[in-house]
Amino acid sequence: MEPEFEEEKLRIRELMIDDLPEVFHIGEEVFTADYSQSLYRTWDEYEITTLFNSDNELCLVAEAGEKILGFALGTTVEKHNSPWKYGYLVWLGVRKDTQKEEVGKRLFNEIKRRMKEQGVRMIIIDTSADNLPAISFFEKMGFRDTQEHVFMSLNLSRRVKKRSGKRKAKA
Ligand SMILES: CC(C)(COP(=O)(O)OP(=O)(O)OC[C@H]1O[C@@H](n2cnc3c(N)ncnc32)[C@H](O)[C@@H]1OP(=O)(O)O)[C@@H](O)C(=O)NCCC(=O)NCCS
Repeated sequence: MEPEFEEEKLRIRELMIDDLPEVFHIGEEVFTADYSQSLYRTWDEYEITTLFNSDNELCLVAEAGEKILGFALGTTVEKHNSPWKYGYLVWLGVRKDTQKEEVGKRLFNEIKRRMKEQGVRMIIIDTSADNLPAISFFEKMGFRDTQEHVFMSLNLSRRVKKRSGKRKAKA
């Protein structure tokens, strides 16, 4: 697909405080309730501000002219008992009307470069099993070794009906 913006004008840069509302709204557009339903994390303003405060170098936006087209928010994780440093790409989102125009790829390549510079040896992402576009995207970016992970939920607001009386003994 022909990019709607001139590719050379697409700039990847660090997120700045003034970008927060625009990034938040792009996230609202792409991480819908449907998206978050089966995921343990939800898109909200704290997601951006927490990562922005802790890992500014891994919070990136893609910009063409004055408009932000997408963002990548990540962090690094050091596991107990592991000498490896992991990069965790927490959120990657591209405006719907500019998807499939290599914005995601450019964001990913830059966050990957930065993570590598920080000593990361493996990048991790997670997404719902039914988010096939994202899975396809990450496979194109070289991700392999998909691991199945089960999330379960227990709804505490639902009343559990108590059985009345004792069970009758079978004759
Ligand atoms: C996933 C997402 C970030 C991809 O961004 P994008 O800018 O549209 O992707 P790109 O144009 O850079 O595509 C890079 C490659 O992935 C492939 N790809 C992208 N979207 C795809 C889709 N919907 N179906 C199949 N392949 C896809 C492209 O074909 C391209 O392959 P190529 O290099 O062989 O041409 C974007 O679709 C998005 O924001 N999705 C909603 C949010 C989300 O699910 N985020 C990921 C989990 S946090």
